[in-house]
Amino acid sequence: MASQFDAQGRLRHLVTLKDVPRAQLVALLDRAESYLTPPGAKPASNDTLAGRTIANLFFEPSTRTRASFELAARRLGAEVLSLDVSTSSRAKGESLLDTIYTLQAMQIDIFVIRDAQSGVPAYICDHVAPHVAVLNAGESHLNHPTQGLLDVLTMRRHLGDLADKVVTIAGDIQHSRVARSAHHALMTLGVGELRLVAPPTLAPDASEFPGATLLDSIEDGVRGADVVMCLRIQRERMEQGHGPDAAEFHRQFGLTPERLALAQPHAIVMHPGPMNREVEIAGSVADAPQSVITEQVTNGVAVRMAVMQTVMETLHG
Ligand code: NCD
Repeated sequence: MASQFDAQGRLRHLVTLKDVPRAQLVALLDRAESYLTPPGAKPASNDTLAGRTIANLFFEPSTRTRASFELAARRLGAEVLSLDVSTSSRAKGESLLDTIYTLQAMQIDIFVIRDAQSGVPAYICDHVAPHVAVLNAGESHLNHPTQGLLDVLTMRRHLGDLADKVVTIAGDIQHSRVARSAHHALMTLGVGELRLVAPPTLAPDASEFPGATLLDSIEDGVRGADVVMCLRIQRERMEQGHGPDAAEFHRQFGLTPERLALAQPHAIVMHPGPMNREVEIAGSVADAPQSVITEQVTNGVAVRMAVMQTVMETLHG
């Protein structure tokens, strides 16, 4: 596989956070933070990507991630092409690479890809022209690097240095690319403790999450935590009828006000969306003052601006 770094070690694609060094992660977070403006103020914008074209290719459903990449590109002055892939040529049997080559011939600079199949973003990296960048916007259950960045940015803004902090991620860890990308970033940044809470049927293989603590009790997971992130049950990655019952899941693992009271008084509540209220999270918790779920969305646009600007600097100076 082609590296996501150039010969000087600079980021030229973003496929995974796994091997992104700490200094580069921090630089991306700092740059993203510089794009945040107070509520009500105009969003940050500049023309560093003026004349550039970004293509959003989402072969899996998405609302917020796709809108977020689109706004991020526009706020940097780029043109954006968001393809409706259900009607695209891939559905007609054209190979993925032919679609990429066709768009590349229209002078696309950045491909933003979401796909249910593992390895697709890396495969596209291997085949694009040297002046084209590929950004992974969600790859199977494996990687969602911009989500990982926006999650750690949100934590950092509320908690500062994470070295002495406890981060708990609860829900369907096994099928979650959000949990995997958060794990990559948190390990590199040096979190105090990462706890993963899931019922045995949705627990990951421990070898996939080195350094994390696996638990099957939400109470044990939440007790004393500084961050509690809830994840939905990803039924689209399970055989039909094999997922847990929603009401039973809520009873055993849902983040209720009573369970959240076990966390630190200043703990923040996170969720990548889409949320299923009264399943993984009580509606009252999602709307409580401790919830930073909408801040995650705001931070996501800033993170995607930072990533796009960074890869374009690598390619064009
Ligand atoms: C997540 C995803 O697509 O992986 N959503 C998102 O990008 N905000 C999580 C999910 O679908 O549950």
